[in-house]
Amino acid sequence: MFVRWLLPALLALSAEADFFQFESISNVSTYYFNYIYCNIWEGDCQPNQDDATQQAVPTRNLWAGFPQDYTSLLHQWYCSLGQCCESGDCRITNNISGLARDLQTKLHGQHLVQSVVLKAIQGFINNPESNKPLTLSFHGWSGTGKNFVARVIADNLYRDGVKSECVRLFIAPFHFPHARLVDTYKGQLREAIRDMVLRCPQTLFIFDEAEKLHPGLIDAIKPYMDHYDNVDGVSYRRAIFLFLSNIGGATINEVALDYWHSGQNREDIGMEDLEHRLRAETMESHGGFAQSELMSGHLIDFFVPFLPLEYRHVKLCARDAYAARGLETDEATLDEVAKAMLYVPKEERLFSAQGCKSIPQRINFFLP
Ligand SMILES: *[C@@H]1O[C@H](CO)[C@@H](O)[C@H](O)[C@H]1NC(C)=O
Ligand SMILES: *[C@@H]1O[C@H](CO)[C@@H](O)[C@H](O)[C@H]1NC(C)=O
Repeated sequence: MFVRWLLPALLALSAEADFFQFESISNVSTYYFNYIYCNIWEGDCQPNQDDATQQAVPTRNLWAGFPQDYTSLLHQWYCSLGQCCESGDCRITNNISGLARDLQTKLHGQHLVQSVVLKAIQGFINNPESNKPLTLSFHGWSGTGKNFVARVIADNLYRDGVKSECVRLFIAPFHFPHARLVDTYKGQLREAIRDMVLRCPQTLFIFDEAEKLHPGLIDAIKPYMDHYDNVDGVSYRRAIFLFLSNIGGATINEVALDYWHSGQNREDIGMEDLEHRLRAETMESHGGFAQSELMSGHLIDFFVPFLPLEYRHVKLCARDAYAARGLETDEATLDEVAKAMLYVPKEERLFSAQGCKSIPQRINFFLP
């Protein structure tokens, strides 16, 4: 039935086909086209039972045999829906310079995050032939910027940020609250991911409070994160998975405190100081995420440590919060906001226990 309304629409468009610039079907989302293709030629995209290695969804090679004007008509129809741009798919912006700038200017006290996240995302975007999805695991105390960085990534990679139809946020205790329903959740989660990957050529999945995910749930989606060309005919290689958790927070804080005690700069803390300790602690800790095969299977590409924030960082967050509201402020006010936070450990009083969490709400108390 799809074909019945699509074809007349295509024919109606054909008059304008002349000025239409159609370079290659590959500029547009292959998946999107495969998806359309399957809907038009229903039945042609069933998995081939005899040959498991063959892609169930037709790949772009199929289009090579199509008359050019026919594909261009399809492309034009696609564009008429407002779904295409010079870059291919308007929903995807992949603004790496914007990402670099946001990480430099809006994130405070996280030199490791700045370099690791940028390198990982940039590498992934610049390498469309990568053989596996990108999987990042963010670790650290609350308020250190994990959600913030996830949002910055979404904002720079997608036109509509976290609201994009290519971005999906799962909050473990909210979306998957009951352990006894884990089998239902497994199906729902698999379907949600598969559906989005079919509709979007580059997807972003964010799992917040990942330490609360049931191990069975992660193992259910693990095949999507592995080095497979496709899973049941769908390729997940252009997906980005972010796991946000507080696992390893204590280890990270210890390392930061040790540096401070020995008089070293926190900016000198390197990945080598943290990564294997983090990996070890993650494997040892209890709970779903840590025990899942994701960890033991080495499917996490990068562990990203978020350091605990100090007084001076909290001040910077407060400055940003005032600026975001278009308000003038001064050092004295920023000091007041920062002083109102609780600092730990007891003796050193070095790190803000809540990081920069709720700073935007807190400044209300200091408004004239
Ligand atoms: C479309 O793809 C072709 C070949 O892959 C490339 O040469 C061309 O620059 C692309 N065009 C746009 C607008 O991205
Ligand atoms: C990328 O982000 C930068 C900084 O936010 C912005 O100035 C620039 O216009 C963006 N570029 C595109 C192509 O959206």
